[in-house]
Amino acid sequence: MEFQDVVRRRRMVRNFEDRPVPDEALDLILENALHAPSAGFSQGWAFLVLQGDEKRHFHDVTYPGHDDLGVYRAPVLIVCLSHKDAYLDRYTEPDKGWTDRDESRWPAPYWDIDTGFAALLMLLTAVDNGLAGVFFGIAPDKIRVFHEEFGVPDPYHPIGAIALGYAATDTPSSSLKRGRRPQAEVVHRGRWQSR
Ligand SMILES: Cc1cc2nc3c(=O)[nH]c(=O)nc-3n(C[C@H](O)[C@H](O)[C@H](O)COP(=O)(O)O)c2cc1C
Repeated sequence: MEFQDVVRRRRMVRNFEDRPVPDEALDLILENALHAPSAGFSQGWAFLVLQGDEKRHFHDVTYPGHDDLGVYRAPVLIVCLSHKDAYLDRYTEPDKGWTDRDESRWPAPYWDIDTGFAALLMLLTAVDNGLAGVFFGIAPDKIRVFHEEFGVPDPYHPIGAIALGYAATDTPSSSLKRGRRPQAEVVHRGRWQSR
């Protein structure tokens, strides 16, 4: 598929066919995640892949009582985890040279940003392979139980999860009614506002 088609066809899909994701496609999706850029090449990310009973358990734990959701039909879940310490440690190495791990040095949480870049690469790779996905958040009050149930070490923070599969018909999200903001509104050239 042409790159432009991959970008323009990608949309968050919230209903899936009851059809497994081929292992080769899943492997490629995960491999491409590792090609995301990361500050200092820190690569402070991890991906927890859940299928079958483990996937059902994730839904039960993080959003109980909603097993009729179309998203739950996706055969694969990839929980995207960011690892802040990897960045704080990396930047104390000689070629970076910071002598402390002071978080105020960071203009934005690059650990979460880089994990988000990886998530987008996975979504685009899915589209390129005839699959679809949706990135969704995990409620703050469910983060602890998620860690406990899946044995995830504390320094790894789930920024969200991708449900992956073959798209089935779904109702477009109400958010789309907002419409895509045009370049004229969001792109500023030279200075914020022309005088
Ligand atoms: C960080 C992030 C969190 C999101 N969380 C959710 C979510 O929890 N549930 C959901 O249905 N969609 C979620 N979405 C999908 C957005 O609603 C969607 O990207 C937006 O409406 C634009 O639609 P499109 O991606 O299909 O173009 C999320 C997207 C992002 C980038």
